[in-house]
Amino acid sequence: MKILIVKYLPSGNDSNTAELLDYFKLRIKKFHSIEEIDLLENQPPIHNQLSMIAYKNRNFGGKELTDEQKKAIEPMDKLSLQFKNADLIVFAYPMHNFSIPGIIKTYLDAVIQKTILFKTINNESKGLMGKSKFINIYTSMGAYDREYGFMDNAKVVMKIELDFMGFVDYEFVHASTGNAVTRKIHIANAQKIIDGIIQKWNL
Ligand SMILES: Cc1cc2nc3c(=O)[nH]c(=O)nc-3n(C[C@H](O)[C@H](O)[C@H](O)COP(=O)(O)O)c2cc1C
Repeated sequence: MKILIVKYLPSGNDSNTAELLDYFKLRIKKFHSIEEIDLLENQPPIHNQLSMIAYKNRNFGGKELTDEQKKAIEPMDKLSLQFKNADLIVFAYPMHNFSIPGIIKTYLDAVIQKTILFKTINNESKGLMGKSKFINIYTSMGAYDREYGFMDNAKVVMKIELDFMGFVDYEFVHASTGNAVTRKIHIANAQKIIDGIIQKWNL
């Protein structure tokens, strides 16, 4: 299986989220080809005027691009095709300000391209990632359970994006790390969820 890991772990060696990602990597049993993007080292590109025109002209207008336009959108294309070709994509990041960190959104804005990750038929969009799987590993201080669930915008936004891209098989792995007493329990529970996913998907 081709696994693509996209991580943003600015806490480095102290990262709670890295603990879960490392656990996943250690527990997968089969041989997989694993590619890893560390967004701290390779920041995803942001559209500028030229790349935006290129994207609209080509992906929405079906037009040929000039060499200059091709060059402008090439970094997005590279990431988008890499994403498209993965059998399993794993995101790992901490919750920041009740949502995904901006750099994760920037990565998504670079990869989610019409004609590559979704298409439109009669003005309705259809995601093209239905054959791939996705695991979203994240941690936060808060637990965001029961009536506080609506405050977990990381889950809300990721679910919208994953549904839009057509993923059917996706899982969220979350641990609340804010309370020193319960942290261990939450991490252990998240690890159990990871074990369950590995078993279910035969990874
Ligand atoms: C800039 C910043 C913003 C944060 N925002 C939130 C938040 O909105 N809600 C929350 O529950 N925790 C928040 N946290 C706490 C982290 O999500 C939590 O400590 C997480 O486990 C950190 O993961 P890491 O150790 O992998 O960086 C924030 C932490 C930082 C540094």
